[in-house]
Amino acid sequence: MPNASTESSHSPAALQRCIEALGPWFHNLHLPGGVQTAPQHFLGGDFPRFKWLQIAPFVPSDLRGWRVLDVGCNAGFYSFELARRGASVLGIDVDAHYLAQADWACRQFGLEERVQFRRMEVYEIARSSETFDLVWFMGVFYHLRYPLLALDLLAARTRRLMMFQTLTMPGDSVYANTADCAIDERTPLLESGWPKMAFIEHSLAGDPTNWWAANHEGVEAMLRSSGLRVEARPGHEIYLCVPDAEAARTRARYRSQLAAITGHGHGDA
Ligand SMILES: C[S@@+](CC[C@H](N)C(=O)[O-])C[C@H]1O[C@@H](n2cnc3c(N)ncnc32)[C@H](O)[C@@H]1O
Repeated sequence: MPNASTESSHSPAALQRCIEALGPWFHNLHLPGGVQTAPQHFLGGDFPRFKWLQIAPFVPSDLRGWRVLDVGCNAGFYSFELARRGASVLGIDVDAHYLAQADWACRQFGLEERVQFRRMEVYEIARSSETFDLVWFMGVFYHLRYPLLALDLLAARTRRLMMFQTLTMPGDSVYANTADCAIDERTPLLESGWPKMAFIEHSLAGDPTNWWAANHEGVEAMLRSSGLRVEARPGHEIYLCVPDAEAARTRARYRSQLAAITGHGHGDA
């Protein structure tokens, strides 16, 4: 039996102690050797691996030369998967607790050369000029007080792909014509397929940081008006988007607002 003085820092017992010291975990990472960080996940199953298995076929298998931004990276599950495909990844998160997990796990995987983590508010992206081939924006939008601001900022930084996921309302219906609505005939707004987003004043699922739940068409409409086109839906509430010149014309309608927020005169975030 190994004792404290002879036990390797990579032994299962030593890893388990680090995992406990760094917990609680939201991402279940499978560390080298098979030890897992959150095998009894409250969302059930192996989270977020079961989501990744749905999404993975939609992401290029060779990401060499790609620069990736993982927004709200948490313990880095997606950052690590994308780095394994060859990408150079910047993972950002506001929470120092999760970033400590991500930094530690990165060393366990030996991915320090390809993945960097930074404590950052998503909106701070407006202060740098970097653009990214792939923006990974999963599980964060609905936690934001200013979700469209973040989406507009990130859409403007997306060179090739955005993987977007948000909490939604039930249903998939789409209202046929949302081009306009008369001021005294606003009942179409009540239709289930009209793009909409419910504001959560207090709490959803016991979590007061869940501020918004859009419906499916609301998600697609917001993505379009941020200058993106939905290419595929790899899974429930998940949208794979590409920048779209036609959709990006909408940006002219709010350019001055964005410019006022970012301080960039041209308003393109
Ligand atoms: C529900 S978790 C999603 C984690 C991961 N993206 C995923 O899909 O599994 C939300 C993450 O976003 C981070 N987050 C929340 N608000 C943020 C903000 N304003 N800027 C950056 N990260 C944020 C949280 O700390 C947390 O790690």
